[in-house]
Amino acid sequence: MLQVLSGAGALPGFPLPGGENLPRPRRRDGRTGEPPARPRVAGARPGNPSGMASPAAGAAGPPALPGVFASHWMATSPATSYPPLTSGAGAEVDVAVIGGGVAGLSAAWELSRAGCSVAVLEAGRIAAGVTGFTTAKLTALHTLVYAGLRRTRGPEGARLYARSQQEAVERVVEVAGLLGVDCELERRPAFTYVTDPAGVAAVREEANAAEQAGLPASYVRETGLPFPVAGAVRVEDQAQFHPRRYLLALAEDLVARGGAVYELTRVTGLDEGTPCRLTTENGAELVARDVVVATHYPVFDRALLFTRLSPRRELVVAGPLAADRDPGGMYITQENDTRSVRTAPGPDGRRLLIVTGEHFTPGTADVTERFGRLADWAGAHFPGLEITHRWATQDNDSTDTVPLVGPFHAGSRHTYVATGFGGWGMSGGVMAGRLLADLITGLRPAWADLYDPRRVGSALREAPAFLRHQATVAQHFVGDRLRVPHVESPEEVAPGTGAVVRMGGRACAVHRAADGTVRRLSARCTHLGCLVAFNDAEQAWECPCHGSRFAVDGSVLQGPAVRPLEAWDAGEG
Ligand SMILES: Cc1cc2nc3c(=O)[nH]c(=O)nc-3n(C[C@H](O)[C@H](O)[C@H](O)COP(=O)(O)OP(=O)(O)OC[C@H]3O[C@@H](n4cnc5c(N)ncnc54)[C@H](O)[C@@H]3O)c2cc1C
Ligand code: FES
Repeated sequence: MLQVLSGAGALPGFPLPGGENLPRPRRRDGRTGEPPARPRVAGARPGNPSGMASPAAGAAGPPALPGVFASHWMATSPATSYPPLTSGAGAEVDVAVIGGGVAGLSAAWELSRAGCSVAVLEAGRIAAGVTGFTTAKLTALHTLVYAGLRRTRGPEGARLYARSQQEAVERVVEVAGLLGVDCELERRPAFTYVTDPAGVAAVREEANAAEQAGLPASYVRETGLPFPVAGAVRVEDQAQFHPRRYLLALAEDLVARGGAVYELTRVTGLDEGTPCRLTTENGAELVARDVVVATHYPVFDRALLFTRLSPRRELVVAGPLAADRDPGGMYITQENDTRSVRTAPGPDGRRLLIVTGEHFTPGTADVTERFGRLADWAGAHFPGLEITHRWATQDNDSTDTVPLVGPFHAGSRHTYVATGFGGWGMSGGVMAGRLLADLITGLRPAWADLYDPRRVGSALREAPAFLRHQATVAQHFVGDRLRVPHVESPEEVAPGTGAVVRMGGRACAVHRAADGTVRRLSARCTHLGCLVAFNDAEQAWECPCHGSRFAVDGSVLQGPAVRPLEAWDAGEG
């Protein structure tokens, strides 16, 4: 007897943050739920309003999306090929950094400059995790953070946050100059804007709080955007850059100075002794006095930080724009499920417009539909735009909106963590690198307490967000097991899609490749057992509880899970 639990993240009757119910997964017979109507946009190809093919009745597989699925940063920087750590290479270092994203590489580089011997251990390739798929605005203006910080941490807390983040922006400018890196660094003002007059009071308050926190902030009515806004916070002297070109240069410099970078080296064991001992998936070992866990979602989560982190996935579309249409700044609004705009040097002297938005919990959205909405918004607001690239990634929000950077847990003496950047890990990751290097070398910057994961008083401040997050997780853990079936059997799963089907009382993740090949895996996430759902647009299984992601072959794309989805035992289904 077969029963379906979920497919493409559908939760019947369960509202998305944006208020709409999720469309049903596409069946092999082409029947779907009722997708919301999409407005026509000027940048679309004739007869195709959004630039996306719509699924014809009876068509199989997900609709085509505009542009190629490729991060601009990954596509315009060299691939890396550092060796893996092998048993023989396992030496002893002062500091081992687990994870080669912006946080890990910044920490490693700062530590090496401070005179420590350092090794970076990266499960895949460096700067190719979340950091390789970001939008890389480098700014201390984090949407609307300062008014909240002033309320919860007082004016001094807001000031420390602003100073630490602005110093990180300046640090990138300084280091890029020091190393002579061509990382397309451009100074630009940053804006948080609203188009709805109802939001003006909030941006006015933010401008006031950001200025009081020490940033060059003001409230403005005019921006460089090609459409009117009701009001905006403007902060001068911010920056944007090419994150991979910057970070690959840090890695090269680290190695030139005697440090080590190991790729294809997933750390699977951490013994927090004196010294610490790390073991890898391949059986290699490394001994280190101190360890930095910079794996985005922390692995070896002995402080149960996953209870204080909510994953948020976001989509990006990009396309070239005539240089004289560059809006000349970095923009963000919380309206429409977030819209963020920046440009970068593009082809033929043009600028590449990069638009981000549509945030959602992994495994809970029709991602194809959301890509369409984002492309439509970009085309409507920048007429004539042809989308050439699209990509997506996710970040973790901490329950009190401040990143968790410092000692890993109450008992740690030699282990540190950096996580919870809330969509602002460019300045946040660089700040974290400096802060951790200071702590490890015996210094204590003024903002160490602000970011300390063990921070006192946090429980009270975090209670509402903590309870909300736990309720959502519980809903997925229990509710997902009780879902009404949408697809009655694996045979109904269309090519290029996946769905969770109950087989013999167990949840089976069924994926049908474009060529018709069917792959079955256990649908239980190997982190804590929530059920995964399929993301058609990115061809991945996603867990809504803490954001783990798995490829169609079950291998881990993103933690906190560290083990692949289990193979499905055909005898059980
Ligand atoms: C769509 C989007 C746009 C964004 N835009 C901006 C922006 O404009 N400005 C901004 O400031 N921030 C932005 N952010 C946030 C920013 O990109 C992230 O906060 C930041 O990249 C996180 O960096 P990280 O080093 O923590 O993680 P990652 O870059 O993911 O690095 C972690 C690394 O750890 C490795 N790893 C994991 N487990 C193991 C293990 N067991 N052993 C070894 N290695 C392991 C992973 O492979 C990965 O490479 C954006 C986020 C999103 C989602
Ligand atoms: S990520 Fe925690 S249960 Fe899946």
